[in-house]
Amino acid sequence: MNISSAVFKCSSQKVSQIPSDGLPEFAFIGRSNVGKSSLINMLTGRPALAKVSGTPGKTRLINHFLVNGNWYLVDLPGYGYARVSKGQREGFSKLITGYIKNSPQLVMLFVLVDSRLEPQKIDLEFINFLGENAIPFGIVFTKTDKLTPSKTKANIEAYSRMLLETWEELPPLFVTSSEKKLGRDQILGFIAGCMEEISRK
Ligand code: GTP
Ligand code: MG
Repeated sequence: MNISSAVFKCSSQKVSQIPSDGLPEFAFIGRSNVGKSSLINMLTGRPALAKVSGTPGKTRLINHFLVNGNWYLVDLPGYGYARVSKGQREGFSKLITGYIKNSPQLVMLFVLVDSRLEPQKIDLEFINFLGENAIPFGIVFTKTDKLTPSKTKANIEAYSRMLLETWEELPPLFVTSSEKKLGRDQILGFIAGCMEEISRK
């Protein structure tokens, strides 16, 4: 997919504020600092579109970016960020679950996980929550430039084996590095496929 335009549309503090123009939404979520905003910039080829930070908890609102004038890329706040108050954390969590459960335009949720880590409890709980609510999702392994290809492969295989203990089939998996611009064609190709299906309906 060629990205001819990608522009910031709005930040929403509440689900009631998200755009109501009916355009399809593809959202990105994962633990704080996993690389969501960097991935959005890499996918769109706009390095300064979403704010990136070495400090976790940078993205605190639901951010909509309009791509090619006909779909939204949605940057969600990270979950599991420890260094905020319990009340704030509950607020983010309510915002995230509210968005996921009440967005009829949400086509696909990309769940980002750090390719260097063992499966994390918080990610697995979140993935199970998606399953229980029948939310279509895929898993994006991030920061693979920090591993050797063989270690990346081994980690993804271990992740897949673990998912197959609870799931009958694997969700779509994407292997990425925003640093090295890896996985761009796979994710954009997947989104293009979804958009084609939508336009045929
Ligand atoms: P929050 O908004 O705080 O939830 O974080 P986020 O998930 O949006 O992460 P962000 O994109 O801001 O990146 C966090 C840190 O990881 C930054 O220092 C990035 O430069 C770094 N980072 C992100 N993606 C990659 C990658 O593919 N490779 C490497 N080496 N570093 C990355
Ligand atoms: Mg972010």
